[in-house]
Amino acid sequence: MPTAIENSTTSMSIRGGHEQSRPRIARPLEYTGALDTFTHNDLTPAIGREYRGVQVAEILKSDECDRIIQDLAVTISKRGVVFLRNQDLTPQEMRQFGEKLSVLAGCPESSALHVHPLTEEGSELGDQISVISSDKQKKGGGLTHQLSDTSRFASAGWHTDISFERVPSDYAMLKIHTLPETGGDTLWASGYEIYDRLSSQMAGFLEGLTATHDANFFHDEARRLGNPLRKGVRGSPLNSGENLTAVHPVIRTNPVTGWKSVFVNRGFTRRINGVTKDESDVLLQYLFNLVTQNHDAQVRFKWNKNDMAIWDNRSTWHCATYDYAEARAGDRVCSLGEAPYLDLQSKSRRQAVAEN
Ligand code: SIN
Repeated sequence: MPTAIENSTTSMSIRGGHEQSRPRIARPLEYTGALDTFTHNDLTPAIGREYRGVQVAEILKSDECDRIIQDLAVTISKRGVVFLRNQDLTPQEMRQFGEKLSVLAGCPESSALHVHPLTEEGSELGDQISVISSDKQKKGGGLTHQLSDTSRFASAGWHTDISFERVPSDYAMLKIHTLPETGGDTLWASGYEIYDRLSSQMAGFLEGLTATHDANFFHDEARRLGNPLRKGVRGSPLNSGENLTAVHPVIRTNPVTGWKSVFVNRGFTRRINGVTKDESDVLLQYLFNLVTQNHDAQVRFKWNKNDMAIWDNRSTWHCATYDYAEARAGDRVCSLGEAPYLDLQSKSRRQAVAEN
């Protein structure tokens, strides 16, 4: 087992976070070379890497399993999202892999796989697998209502998974097994890159602020879908009850890389605190524009059957594309990391890369 995992200590330079939910790593993790036998290409300079020849089911059986998965975690956290083609992997193996990825990347003891508030009780694949399907979307599940009711911009769907939880996600993975003939691509954007596009004055100002994330609209969706909202423990003792709101720092540090990222998103962030509502609206709109209007901070993935994407929710946004009429479906596993915090000693990605 790698040794970088240990109790992290409180530091005067840390803002936010929650004592019960600190990461178990005191410093960023180092890549050890365990993935060097696989070829890869970086899909854009800012974000995204595709590996060839990696089968997660084989990694799970390997003697080097923990080392490979920890290196994968480091790579996902650095590149934002990693794509693995044609995975022969059951939903249960996906769950096992999701748990290992999060633990080996240093998630707090109290964090486990997330149970989505809209997951049906007693669902066939278990509480910790969310079924993503065009059928559910037609009934208005997830964030798709924003596209038809209030906006005709496809970019209205950009979000970070479950940022309304007090302990939100570190990693998420999606394997798509049913696909339309064309369409249904997914886009990701880099939160590190968006942070790097702020002036130092604006970055410093935002570093002193928190924002409120809110998914109470899921209550209406639960009624519409006919499933009671999940009010019990949703993967962390801090994530329970029916009030789906959380306050997080606007800029957070990713503990795996030690890099700063912008942590507000179009899907769930409603208000920057400590400024007027007018100011909050302007600031949020500006930050959302940085994500949607910088196509050089994004990567767009065209799925083939059984491809899998694994991303770091602390430092990326993503957006599905609803441009198809046929069925599209897959399985998603989402793990919980630490309560977001900002370490004022941490660096921006460009700064860290320039210094190495
Ligand atoms: C998601 O938003 O997590 C799902 C993305 C997709 O369906 O492509």
